Amino acid sequence: MPAKKKAAETGSGVKKVKTIGVLTSGGDSPGMNAAIRAVVRKALSNGLKVKGIKKGYQGLLQEEIIDMERHSVSEIIGLGGTILGTARCAEFRTEEGVKKAADICRKHGIDGIVVIGGDGSYRGAQKLSHEGINTIGLPGTIDLDIACTDYTIGFDTAINTAMQAIDKVRDTSSSHERCSIIEVMGRNAGYIALWCGVANGAEDILLPEKYDYNEQTIINHIIENRKNGKKHHIIINAEGIGHSTSMARRIEAATGMETRATILGYMQRGGSPTCKDRYYASIMGSMAADLLTEGKTNRVVAYKGGQFIDFDIDEALAMEKQIPEYEYEMSKIL
Ligand code: ADP
Ligand code: F6P
Repeated sequence: MPAKKKAAETGSGVKKVKTIGVLTSGGDSPGMNAAIRAVVRKALSNGLKVKGIKKGYQGLLQEEIIDMERHSVSEIIGLGGTILGTARCAEFRTEEGVKKAADICRKHGIDGIVVIGGDGSYRGAQKLSHEGINTIGLPGTIDLDIACTDYTIGFDTAINTAMQAIDKVRDTSSSHERCSIIEVMGRNAGYIALWCGVANGAEDILLPEKYDYNEQTIINHIIENRKNGKKHHIIINAEGIGHSTSMARRIEAATGMETRATILGYMQRGGSPTCKDRYYASIMGSMAADLLTEGKTNRVVAYKGGQFIDFDIDEALAMEKQIPEYEYEMSKIL
């Protein structure tokens, strides 16, 4: 699939960038290392110097900055997590924090930064860009909840990890003729729940964007399925709804069907990235290095309509994303 770059329409700086930094921020995701590797190697091949910033914006404020060479990113493409570490940083949310970070960049000769993270991290990159440091964002989150892009680094690995775990819970649920509530990640977004719910053939899928908190509907569904001879009842519940353990108790009391809750948790955020996450993250990392080389700032790389493109961060953050209605309706029927 060819990588396609859209000409920057807004926010294009003319500043000549010589040294760039790369950092990972917010929740980690499998494929971040592939993105770091691509940023480093493409930037070096473009004639730039590259520095790794440890632990996100926190590490930037604490000047945890290291030189990166081609060999610094050897043997990392298949590793989960992020070799740079990641953090959430309250100080960077303040005006003083951003100004301090920009001064630290200038002190270290860093005139451009690739920020790999979710849309919170993009807001930080936007502010840093306003302080004169060129910034490019890459979508790194397992949640798929960034509006400007149909793909986020780590989602593919996370859904495959969760799908395999759910298959296993399903086996034992069936043997014991139980109902299982399986909670998957996604504090505000139901994409992991939707994809796994369909891929695992769940009887009910609860999404934060759609759930009406009417447990009676689920109870009626379980009773009806039991009458039809169904041996198990799998409910995929998104973290944003949560309360799986108490929900299990209430459902067991109302239906008489033994009901257990399994919370998959952080296992979904770790592990070796899939081929897709390694490949797409490599393209996106490479594009980020090119954008900084061209003097662009305040932009994010996205995958939209089957193409890799870039958007102005302001434009990207103003976009909204909703669970596709057709896919949601289909999930209820299948
Ligand atoms: P994600 O990037 O995965 O959405 P967060 O929302 O936790 O994760 O954001 C990661 C970090 O980005 C925060 O800890 C903070 O340092 C920075 N950040 C988030 N929102 C802002 C903001 N509005 N202004 C400045 N920095 C922000
Ligand atoms: O990375 C996204 C995510 O995994 C969400 O699904 C989840 O709600 C959140 O991160 C939890 O992050 P943490 O527990 O590290 O704050």
